[in-house]
Amino acid sequence: MSSNQLDKKSEAWSALFSEPMSELVQRYTASVFFDKRLADADITGSLAHADMLAAQGIISTDDLAAIQRGMTQIRSEIESGAFEWKLALEDVHLNIEARLTQLVGDAGKRLHTGRSRNDQVATDIRLWLRGEIDLIAGLLRELQLALIEVAEKNIDVILPGFTHLQVAQPVSFAHHLLAYVEMFGRDEARMQDVRKRVNQLPLGSAALAGTTYPLDRERVAKTLGMEGVCQNSLDAVSDRDFAIEFAAAASLVMVHVSRLSEELVLWMSQNFAFIRIADRFTTGSSIMPQKKNPDVPELARGKTGRVVGHLMGLITLMKGQPLAYNKDNQEDKEPLFDTV
Ligand code: ARG
Repeated sequence: MSSNQLDKKSEAWSALFSEPMSELVQRYTASVFFDKRLADADITGSLAHADMLAAQGIISTDDLAAIQRGMTQIRSEIESGAFEWKLALEDVHLNIEARLTQLVGDAGKRLHTGRSRNDQVATDIRLWLRGEIDLIAGLLRELQLALIEVAEKNIDVILPGFTHLQVAQPVSFAHHLLAYVEMFGRDEARMQDVRKRVNQLPLGSAALAGTTYPLDRERVAKTLGMEGVCQNSLDAVSDRDFAIEFAAAASLVMVHVSRLSEELVLWMSQNFAFIRIADRFTTGSSIMPQKKNPDVPELARGKTGRVVGHLMGLITLMKGQPLAYNKDNQEDKEPLFDTV
């Protein structure tokens, strides 16, 4: 094995392999072109792991300093676009580790002590998703405030309330909008609830059965701002129920977005004529100049199908997987990323 330039993944494996991986298999199994989105979480998780390894005396403080220096450089290379992602290195984890080893030598390899890509990837997804949940929760609150603002201006505006889409009783437009404020409020609460189960630390589980190194998992959890450590290693590396829960909560967000969108589309049609949507938010037609189309709410309604589809994809991905980690789980990322 070339010691300071690990360019091909197969070089990290055992003497069991007598030929390099087929190029077709390499392309089929690689995930780097989508999981590089996890790079920042991967580095954050690695730095917390390295800090703990040094505190426990498992690696030297010199190694820790080298790892920190290397990771700082890698972070800026990724930010500037200078980082060279290699398909032959399969995924974000091996790409970063190989570059680290290239930059700081054997200290880079010692970073992986007491760790496997199995607990590493589970940690990365959780860290990344936690950040996204916080952004989404913030957006839901902003959306609620925007609806409240419109409601406040429209307390005296009366519109027909419908049941069965038949005119039923008069209601205040404000009252109607505040119904959505309730829906998005529950959506945010669901996100916060999912967050608690996302924010648990898998590291320390290693490949599936833990490690004999005297790791301090609580320290890593604390460094990463996680609420606790996953209690069972087999479970920690294999289940993606937290991603499924997130997709379910996201599906409900989209169902509510879709209902609101549907109402905007109806209200804007000439038959209802309840609202006008500003020109800058609509599209036109050259052959039918009388038309103004609500493309934005229509697209929002349409995107709902994608998110609900990802929920089905993720839940089906999990079904039938024996314990513990299986490569199937690599398929969690694209639906999760697209859902976000
Ligand atoms: N790219 C892999 C994934 O997303 C990382 C874990 C790979 N682990 C393994 N033992 N092959 O799931």
